Amino acid sequence: MAEQFDVAVIGAGAAGMMCAAVAGQRGLRVVLLDHAERIGEKIRISGGGRCNFTNLGTSAANFLSDNPHFCRSALSRYTPQDFLALLARHHIGWHEKHKGQLFCDDSAQQIIDMLVAECAAGDVSWRQPCKLKALSRSEERWQLDTSLGQIDCASLVVATGGLSIPKIGASDLGHRIARQFDIPVVAPRPALVPLSFDPAAWAPFAELAGLALEVEVSSASGHFREDLLFTHRGLSGPAILQISSYWQPGEAIQINLAPDEARLGEALIDAKPGNRQHLATILAQTLPRRLADTWVQRHGLQGKPLADCSDKALRALAQELQAWSLLPSGSEGYRKAEVTRGGVDTRALDQKTMMARSQPGLYFVGEVMDVTGWLGGYNFQWAWASAYAAGMAV
Ligand code: FDA
Repeated sequence: MAEQFDVAVIGAGAAGMMCAAVAGQRGLRVVLLDHAERIGEKIRISGGGRCNFTNLGTSAANFLSDNPHFCRSALSRYTPQDFLALLARHHIGWHEKHKGQLFCDDSAQQIIDMLVAECAAGDVSWRQPCKLKALSRSEERWQLDTSLGQIDCASLVVATGGLSIPKIGASDLGHRIARQFDIPVVAPRPALVPLSFDPAAWAPFAELAGLALEVEVSSASGHFREDLLFTHRGLSGPAILQISSYWQPGEAIQINLAPDEARLGEALIDAKPGNRQHLATILAQTLPRRLADTWVQRHGLQGKPLADCSDKALRALAQELQAWSLLPSGSEGYRKAEVTRGGVDTRALDQKTMMARSQPGLYFVGEVMDVTGWLGGYNFQWAWASAYAAGMAV
């Protein structure tokens, strides 16, 4: 005999727990199932263990999607202030780090504990670890055949997240459920991910591994000013994670390594007369020393006093520093990506409820959908907001 519920939620991550709690607290009979041994793992490892749980500046402009206006409605109905009010009820301290990014004072585990407590307040039933073996629909209800028995429910919420970090439970189940019911899926790919380069082309820069500096980075459709980090295989740091979400394979990215210098080449030329200081020493007033040395070496100007450098050589060096064009060979993939771009096509969903228009009673929330936030707490805000919208609608 199948157990009867009003709502089944698949995936006990950020969005799934939030949605189950909201629906349960409305008095609905809710079951939440997850295949992982430990729930909320992405919350636990997020924000360096302190969970960057929202961003005060959240707006639709901070998200990528093939349907960019879709997220507006849910974001406006559950805001960062709403989440802060929830934290206040659970006495969870927080602080702002940078550009509106809010973190827990103590630990990300507090967010998981809060969501579990909110589920308990809604009398949510748990099935975990629990695998979905088959899903079907009949008589306007959903039948779930799981490793812990049969479930029959009126509404099904898919909150299985994206594909990144498979070793902590990510799977494509949400995309498969969409396809099973003829709901289109925008091709997924890793986002907020370090970019890698052909090893031979990268060899001259590999020695810069560990070096970080603030840069401006741009691609055909994105532009950010953030920190960049050189790694052994390529580039990482917030600047690169941000641009990776916009980057398309085969496309070059441009980096300005000295974004505060409006006219570096001309300034060097103006400073030339009688200047016997080494070019690398002068550049090191603007750039980290290791980077200045590498750049001067790349241009064959090592050991040269500024006065002895030709204007042409100085312009070429400055040009490469301020409009460094690079062709990534790929990304570090889902193993390292913070999120997945693409997912369930939101053009098939209702923006107020997150329900599939062609499948009454089937909802998608969180990262499984084609709504991808920038780095900085936006992805969790989307998880909370979309989950709240569905939790109120089921
Ligand atoms: P989430 O991934 O949280 O949950 C999905 C759940 O579904 C998991 O519990 C999983 O086990 C379960 N599941 C998957 N397949 C299943 C199946 N077949 N059967 C049953 N259950 C299944 N964002 C942010 O805003 N601020 C931050 O600081 C960070 N930091 C960060 C760090 C790292 C290392 C990563 C990888 C990601 C982040 N993120 C982030 C992104 C953020 O973690 C992510 O966007 C949200 O967790 C998405 O919430 P969801 O609930 O949609 O998926």
